[in-house]
Amino acid sequence: MEISQEFKDKIQHVANLPTLPQIASRLIRIINDPMTSSNDVAFIIGQDLSLSAKVLRLANSAFYGVPKSITNINSAVVILGLKVLHTMVLGLTVFDMFPNSKQSAALFDRKSFWLHSLGCGMVAKFLASRVRKFILFDPEEAFCAGLLHDIGKVVMEQYLHDDFHKALEYAQINNIPMYNAENTVLGYNHCQVAEWLTSTWGLPSELQYPLIYHHAPSESEQYQEIITLCHLSDWLCYDLGLNNNSYVSPELFPDSFTTLKLEQDDINILKEQFKSEMEKAVTFFEIAAS
Ligand SMILES: [Fe+2]
Ligand SMILES: [Fe+2]
Repeated sequence: MEISQEFKDKIQHVANLPTLPQIASRLIRIINDPMTSSNDVAFIIGQDLSLSAKVLRLANSAFYGVPKSITNINSAVVILGLKVLHTMVLGLTVFDMFPNSKQSAALFDRKSFWLHSLGCGMVAKFLASRVRKFILFDPEEAFCAGLLHDIGKVVMEQYLHDDFHKALEYAQINNIPMYNAENTVLGYNHCQVAEWLTSTWGLPSELQYPLIYHHAPSESEQYQEIITLCHLSDWLCYDLGLNNNSYVSPELFPDSFTTLKLEQDDINILKEQFKSEMEKAVTFFEIAAS
């Protein structure tokens, strides 16, 4: 995505960029290396006691539904897998960087933001298992992309506060999606913020692209499917009532269903199961916030 001059000027003035905690960045570096063992991952997570405790609580929660209890990080990695642990750590550390603020702003409630993000992760994970033919998604990657897709918004709220609130007000008054309001009022948007942020974090491209292109899937030349999956999941979240502080849903690209070879029946099943799945998923949010 092309970065506008306004945005470049703006971020040069932002001090103290949000850097990813060392544990999460070490995991990002090693997770896709075939030489990485469960012991390596357990060792890295084990360095942080409070994180380890949260990981264990999550691993034993209804969200993962593991029948026997997981008592140490090593078994958590073996039973749930490296990728699940990676998502957990990324999700928990990013939540920690942008917690549910005590005095929520009138126009941007962080709880609503995180529930929308979690919902998008759940929808993406569900749809990843329903997508037909030729496209193989890693459900965990889908969940992670959905969970982080709007990270640019919370970064704007924290670091570019006045700009973000101008856009929020404009979106509300004119009844338009935030993405469009940001472009009109600020000349940049939360997807560009995510691009700038995640390149400094070193997120792998398949996770970074959905964050950058989820409002404009056709603009990307790569990772079309995971971007479209994230785009559709975001749109469905508005339909499911997780509207991320905004009353207006982003525009749905009409090709989304055909790109993913999804049918109305998949959406009907999603809607039937979503409420109970979301109840389990809220554990993620509660443990992260504890
Ligand atoms: Fe977005
Ligand atoms: Fe969203």
